Amino acid sequence: MEKRTVYLKTFGCQMNEADSEQILGILGQSGYRSVDRPEDATLIILNTCAIRAKAEQKIFSDLGRLKVFKMKDPSVKIGVAGCLAQSMGERVLSRQPAVDFVLGTMGLDELPDLIEKSGRGEKGVSLAMSGNSEEVRPDAVRSSLVQAYVPIIYGCGNFCTYCVVPFVRGPETSRPVQYILKEIRGLAGQGYKEITLLGQNVLSFGKNSKENVMFRDLLHLTHDIDGVERIRFVTSHPRDMSLEIIETMARLPKVCEALHLPVQSGSDRILHAMNRGYRRRDYLEKLELLRENIPDIAITTDIIVGFPGETDNDFEETLSLISEAGFDHLFGFCFSPRPGTPAETLPDPVDPETARVRLEAVFNLQREISLKKNEAITGRVVEVLVEGPGRKDPAIFTGRTRTNKIVHFPGRSEMIGKLVHVKVEQGLPNCLIGRVDHQDKHKR
Ligand code: 5AD
Ligand code: SF4
Repeated sequence: MEKRTVYLKTFGCQMNEADSEQILGILGQSGYRSVDRPEDATLIILNTCAIRAKAEQKIFSDLGRLKVFKMKDPSVKIGVAGCLAQSMGERVLSRQPAVDFVLGTMGLDELPDLIEKSGRGEKGVSLAMSGNSEEVRPDAVRSSLVQAYVPIIYGCGNFCTYCVVPFVRGPETSRPVQYILKEIRGLAGQGYKEITLLGQNVLSFGKNSKENVMFRDLLHLTHDIDGVERIRFVTSHPRDMSLEIIETMARLPKVCEALHLPVQSGSDRILHAMNRGYRRRDYLEKLELLRENIPDIAITTDIIVGFPGETDNDFEETLSLISEAGFDHLFGFCFSPRPGTPAETLPDPVDPETARVRLEAVFNLQREISLKKNEAITGRVVEVLVEGPGRKDPAIFTGRTRTNKIVHFPGRSEMIGKLVHVKVEQGLPNCLIGRVDHQDKHKR
């Protein structure tokens, strides 16, 4: 058989990462081996993101560079998969003629067909609105040996006015419970200790299925699986974060004290225009409830600045919410109008420079808050799941606390994949520095 090698580059969120693992599984079946450099590949695939215009620009500039490999060797094939592929369809081919095939988000099983067609010189576009196998491929190629993402719900039905996701990933569809549990049992059997349940809004799990297993039930079922030591989930819509779920999180010791709860804005006017379905006060009340029930829970969020019509006053409300909420970390973005979304055509755009200055103010404020929070952990002993040596210094290892904070500490390779106790010696805005606490080593 001719040499078959694939260079796969993934953009965007964890859902895309999870899809890429599946794609590598499918390609493995056809004899493809994954390589780290595009120059070594006979097949190049970009698994793309469409959430902001920046992601789109980056993808087309990458394609411009990658086509050189095809010019050198015309048998090299280039495919574009994922959310941008789904939203642009055939237009990807006209914008970059070096692309051989376009594969959307919901028909990954079409991939071998598309490759075969391209071998015959035919350009294929597959934009199925369903059809991904719900059962995990046993040969999915996982990017981490320590923690694994498990999709539980696909698509999104919330239609926040700025967001392209409902258009490129379809309506909410819960994955059958038996497949989810089978996948998690398999992972636990392979030694994975940490499982992250994945979806655009995991709290909707079960609401759109006949199985009558809701998200809180799924937490219980996951908790019962031997070998799983830590459970996380992303993303949660604040509107759906109920007392019932908070109490379930508090009750189940394997569920980590960490929650990503995107607020987007602190202004009720903007939240309404975004169609988020909650007010500032509702959000802050949920944080209070979370902290009452789960002491020490770390909360992270997403913020969009420069949404159309956002005034200085609205923005001040976002800053004051950030202060009041006391997030552990946040991801901030300038609003980016996306094709086909309601917010694309809203009046009163915020000029890009104002948005940039606002975003910087958000980051500066959060940096101070994160630093204070992390400094307060100094001297404490935290449980860390060890991921491996860092990039800069191979003697300094990296892992994560239950609160999902990154910790750097002197480590050894036999610690990889294990839970160790680390005494925190320094808190920085984005990580903790510490040392393994040997007095504590018999605890676990
Ligand atoms: N512009 C800017 N940020 C966006 N996000 C989603 N859509 C847009 C957009 N059009 C952000 C939201 C979301 C995160 C994943 O990306 O904050 O929570
Ligand atoms: Fe987009 Fe809103 Fe759905 Fe999140 S909840 S994926 S922001 S539409």
